[in-house]
Amino acid sequence: MGALPVYDSIEIQSQSGIYKVEFDLSGVGQLFRHFPGDVHFIVDQELANLYGSELDQILTCEKTIKVIAEEGSKEISRVSPLIETLLKNGIRRQSTIVAIGGGVIQDIACFISTVLYRGVDWNFVPTTLLSQADSCIGSKSSINLGAFKNILGTFKPPKKIVISPEFLTSLERKEIQSGIGEIIKVHIIDGPESFDLLATEFDLFTNDMSVLSRYIERALKIKKKYIELDEFDKGIRNIFNYGHSFGHAIESATDFAVPHGIAVTIGMDMANNIAAWRGLLPSEHRDRMQPVLKANYSAYANVDVPLDGFIEALQRDKKNTVDKLVLIMPLGEKAEVQKVKMDNDLEFRNQCEKFLREMQA
Ligand SMILES: NC(=O)c1ccc[n+]([C@@H]2O[C@H](COP(=O)([O-])OP(=O)(O)OC[C@H]3O[C@@H](n4cnc5c(N)ncnc54)[C@H](O)[C@@H]3O)[C@@H](O)[C@H]2O)c1
Repeated sequence: MGALPVYDSIEIQSQSGIYKVEFDLSGVGQLFRHFPGDVHFIVDQELANLYGSELDQILTCEKTIKVIAEEGSKEISRVSPLIETLLKNGIRRQSTIVAIGGGVIQDIACFISTVLYRGVDWNFVPTTLLSQADSCIGSKSSINLGAFKNILGTFKPPKKIVISPEFLTSLERKEIQSGIGEIIKVHIIDGPESFDLLATEFDLFTNDMSVLSRYIERALKIKKKYIELDEFDKGIRNIFNYGHSFGHAIESATDFAVPHGIAVTIGMDMANNIAAWRGLLPSEHRDRMQPVLKANYSAYANVDVPLDGFIEALQRDKKNTVDKLVLIMPLGEKAEVQKVKMDNDLEFRNQCEKFLREMQA
């Protein structure tokens, strides 16, 4: 075996101090040593099934809680019993919560660590590509209240993030592609040069984990620049919603048949096309990005997205009204990703319909 690749640790400056992302290539079995002291683990149940022997020291701790990583687990009424269990297990204000899982486990652990005792430290071991390359930094938690998804939330970064790329080997392909969608997004935001470099290596993403891991590191370094400027998402960080307004509407209109990051990938292609059709983006930029975007969503290109449901979901987006939409699109000669206001009129509807029709062709 050759030498292991070296990844930089990444330090993030937040309002509550510096926190660090470390890459650990020594394997899932070595994770326990990162978390000494009075720790309470919250672990994705699926990982307990898949990595039972490697995570043995963690799973056999009396204070470890296993949680099923499904959207319903983020329901506020299902979070309170977890807090009760932590209390019964003796959690104190000086304890540390360690979350091991993807975005669902992250959201639950971050939320609890913000509200319990008005703040308990937490650490995070992200295990999906989406959480490793994107959500692990940025401080946010989102919890559901009935039909209102992600309506409750807090900002509290973990003290430490440990990324073990080995976890990616057990992910389903659709989960990998979902994470790749977010990696593509930050590279487009970083500018044409960054995206073009990604495009040259894109074909290796699904069969060379070392290439993919390098792009996790790159994606985090790009995101870091923005969250350090706007941790609380009041300004420039909004552009990270690129692909998301359309993506959320696709998820909603298809009853969540399309995984999040893949819906975002479709959303980026849709934003690029609408910008190009309106003369807001030179079409060469749209054409430059399209092959990579299409390749990432090809398995879902034939999904039926009902137009009425799609437009209604866009209107429900909290940034939008019935006749005005706030969208994020690459604009101008430099394809700079920016906020743009657009009329929710017949022209817009027709362009959405055209995109969805052509997507299936
Ligand atoms: N807080 C944030 O900043 C933020 C950002 C984006 C998304 N989210 C939230 O994250 C959630 C989605 O998270 P996600 O996409 O990371 O996935 P997830 O946590 O929903 O997990 C997806 C599936 O993969 C399984 N899994 C996790 N790690 C695995 C591994 N290594 N091998 C095999 N299976 C594994 C899980 O058990 C689950 O079945 C949504 O609820 C979304 O709202 C939060």
